[in-house]
Amino acid sequence: MKIAVAKGDGIGPEIMDAVIGIFNAAKVPMDYVYVDMGKWVFDKGFSNGMTPEAKQTIEEVGILFKGPMETPKGKGVKSVNVTARKTWNTYANDRKFQTLSGVDTVFSKAGIPIDLTIVRENIEDTYGGIEHMLTQDVALGRRFITRPGSEQVIRYAFEMAKKKGARRITCGHKANIMKLTDGLFLEVFKEVAKEYPELKSDDVIVDDLCMKLVSRPDLFDVIVLTNLQGDIVSDLCAGLVGGLGFAPSANIGDHISIFEAVHGTAPDIAGKNIANPTSLLLSGLSMLRHLGLMEQAVMIENALLYTLESGVHTGDFGDKNIPAVNTTQFAQSIISNFGKQPAHHPKPFLPNFYVTPTNFKLEHNPMLQSDLREVHKIVGVDFFIESAEQPQKIADKCLLHATDKLKLVTITNRGTQVWPSGSVFTNLVNQYYCRFEADNENVVSQDQVIDLYRSLAKDFQICSLELLNMWADKKAYSLAQGQ
Ligand code: NAI
Repeated sequence: MKIAVAKGDGIGPEIMDAVIGIFNAAKVPMDYVYVDMGKWVFDKGFSNGMTPEAKQTIEEVGILFKGPMETPKGKGVKSVNVTARKTWNTYANDRKFQTLSGVDTVFSKAGIPIDLTIVRENIEDTYGGIEHMLTQDVALGRRFITRPGSEQVIRYAFEMAKKKGARRITCGHKANIMKLTDGLFLEVFKEVAKEYPELKSDDVIVDDLCMKLVSRPDLFDVIVLTNLQGDIVSDLCAGLVGGLGFAPSANIGDHISIFEAVHGTAPDIAGKNIANPTSLLLSGLSMLRHLGLMEQAVMIENALLYTLESGVHTGDFGDKNIPAVNTTQFAQSIISNFGKQPAHHPKPFLPNFYVTPTNFKLEHNPMLQSDLREVHKIVGVDFFIESAEQPQKIADKCLLHATDKLKLVTITNRGTQVWPSGSVFTNLVNQYYCRFEADNENVVSQDQVIDLYRSLAKDFQICSLELLNMWADKKAYSLAQGQ
């Protein structure tokens, strides 16, 4: 079984050598193809941080095991980590957080065991990076949540929860505020949940989820979230089990998956052979399990847990009364503990089942097809305009351009209605949106929208516009606060 390995920058080569050394000692049946990715590849002039040969190898073998990589600052280049996740559509970020003996936390001291998996959507949301300055004072970001994208990650979470025998699967969201975006994610979660009646599923608003996670993390098992909320909640969970050094990360796609440490390149300790390889090792163990190499994964994980329990530690954690070991000694310790069982939470033996990554080329895009066939119509338009005038002045001008077909219904500033009614206490910035709608949800043509654009542009600088859509009798836009 071949996998691609990119050692990474900073402490990357040290911790990768330590982990591959452990895999070799455990006779993991894998061939490693080393590929060129990271800062020095950027420096050689490859703007995406990887050589074409690296890209080809990864696409052929389907699995990338990577160390941390540095993104050069201020050169206008994008993070190679994010590029890799997006290019290969690794839509599910799976991060496991568990109590590790020898890694003291408030929960381990209180005897509360943690065994959590956060599945974070990895492609969409604000990470599309679609942002525009509407005026010099106002920036606007777009947030994509799609039905097929949500379904992919939610289905992965349910399948994983089922295989793991999870006690509970929870959707974290903010659908009470973001009714269309988070609302869609939650709707898809509830639809997919119907296919898994054997799993206990529920949903929790993300702020409440954070509060519950820091007080009773043991009540949760698998949690699935949108990208940004998942990013934040997963680091919160890393804190619950002792920090990023103990948090593995798997980026799962249908054809290519990436396993990596979540911490950075630690330039302050690079080259000193003192870095902690645990996060990369745990990510490597997720990789072995993903590939069906259960026997080796269990043996190495039990040896790691035994090693931690016996107090062996690198300088970044553990009992300060016991001298720290270096990276190589830590790895050697794990190897010498092969076959030993930890006293707490030993992993059960499971036989291997090999999964060979398929040699795959995407010839069509299945997510382009939608089964939904509701009748669509445009019933209005929001014009985003730049203006430093008071709402009534703006309304007076807009009313001159409104037509019988498209009537002015509301003006808002930062999402809060300021016309026809509002409060003098609402603070204003120099960008409004003015909503024009047809009476009785009548159909509006794109030509009518363009005519109104031309007319309004005589009086205003228009920054952007957004059509007001309806599918069947469902409004596909939010109301202004106070409308
Ligand atoms: P960092 O995670 O590299 O370091 C933060 C602190 O944690 C440092 O004191 C470091 O010594 C310590 N640390 C991190 N990993 C450790 C380990 N395995 N063992 C012992 N101590 C460890 O974060 P920082 O300094 O913000 O970022 C440094 C570089 O890493 C940046 O260029 C950044 O772009 C990159 N980075 C890469 C990531 C990736 O490849 N996935 C993720 C995060 C940052």
